[in-house]
Amino acid sequence: MEPATRDALRLSILEIRSLTTVFGPNPARALRSLRSGASDEQIAASGHVIALRDINLRICEGEIFVLMGPSGSGKSTLVRHCNRLIAQTDGQVLVQGLDLATQSPSALRALRRTQISMVFQAFGLLPHRTVLDNVAFGLELQGLAVRERRARAMTIIEQVGLEGWELRMPAELSGGMRQRVGLARALCVETPIVLMDEPFAALDPVIRELLQNDLLELQRRFGKTFVFITHDVDEAIRLGSRIGILDKGRLLQVGTPLEIILNPVSPTVAGFVRHVNRSRAIPLSAALEPRAGDDRRPPSERSVGNRSVEERSVEERSVEERSEDLLLDARQPLEDVLPHLLVSTNRVGIQQDGQFLGLVSRQRVSELLRGPG
Ligand SMILES: Nc1ncnc2c1ncn2[C@@H]1O[C@H](COP(=O)(O)OP(=O)(O)O)[C@@H](O)[C@H]1O
Ligand SMILES: [Mg+2]
Repeated sequence: MEPATRDALRLSILEIRSLTTVFGPNPARALRSLRSGASDEQIAASGHVIALRDINLRICEGEIFVLMGPSGSGKSTLVRHCNRLIAQTDGQVLVQGLDLATQSPSALRALRRTQISMVFQAFGLLPHRTVLDNVAFGLELQGLAVRERRARAMTIIEQVGLEGWELRMPAELSGGMRQRVGLARALCVETPIVLMDEPFAALDPVIRELLQNDLLELQRRFGKTFVFITHDVDEAIRLGSRIGILDKGRLLQVGTPLEIILNPVSPTVAGFVRHVNRSRAIPLSAALEPRAGDDRRPPSERSVGNRSVEERSVEERSVEERSEDLLLDARQPLEDVLPHLLVSTNRVGIQQDGQFLGLVSRQRVSELLRGPG
């Protein structure tokens, strides 16, 4: 087996192959008509809805995979396939390599308990239980002994900054803290894969941002894999390791937030990301001045000779020696360099983890902010 193939198999924790889902009285017949050329109107006239069309997707271990799309695009349908709350009309869903369609009911139950769980409504707390027992509630449903579930719940409670509140009742907490208890409960599940269907949709922006930070922090800490649904593009960009864009049952594009912002594959995708605050969403690493190192040609063909002495010395000096310039981190957003570029022609360096990466290109910044068209 090719190393690349082996790698892909190892890392793909959830895989969707050629998945098509039709709702209606006779999905199989509707699918046959579709394949033999019936139009969407004809399918609709027969009382069927094509919710998903030929979806192919691999979700990797430890990522936050965000499914984004407008209402009715098929997000909830797709995520429900992932733990087989609904059955597909065609195609396959594999969790850790297991084809869900071939699992017995008891095997499926075990899978949902130990491998993949769905967070429906993260924030409805039980009013007569302490914070601790609210957080441990999911584990109780899974049948864990009381000591074990409380110990695990405490870890998460500390993680979301609710230490000291564990024996309080929900009514004693502020609104923001209650939401955190809800998130902690959702994340207290044992499974390595967690499915979340628009968990933050109903929250006010301030609390929402706090919970997004909590989620990112918990994901870094525990390394779980999340499939997170949202119709909010800013949330998708903030949270997603990668984003899949759904529209009318089709998966239009899968990529990192930056790939999708910089290279939308179609006008539809470009339309979804049009209102993104580019200065905030694009990191400085994208605005690096092109250097010889970016040249794909072999060294013998590169004309090193015409690079200025200064340019070369820039690369050779360490970060410490370059303290006369403004030095920003590659992960900072473009907006952090704008005030400087507006008033000064001094050069701005970019570093990451103590390594000097190069200079900010004013030209690149301008292109990145302008976007396509
Ligand atoms: N149980 C169902 N029966 C019939 N149609 C459904 C059912 N569930 C979803 N649909 C239809 O499938 C499409 C996708 O729905 P859904 O997955 O809920 O979208 P989203 O979560 O992106 O808003 C919609 O047209 C919806 O009306
Ligand atoms: Mg939905």
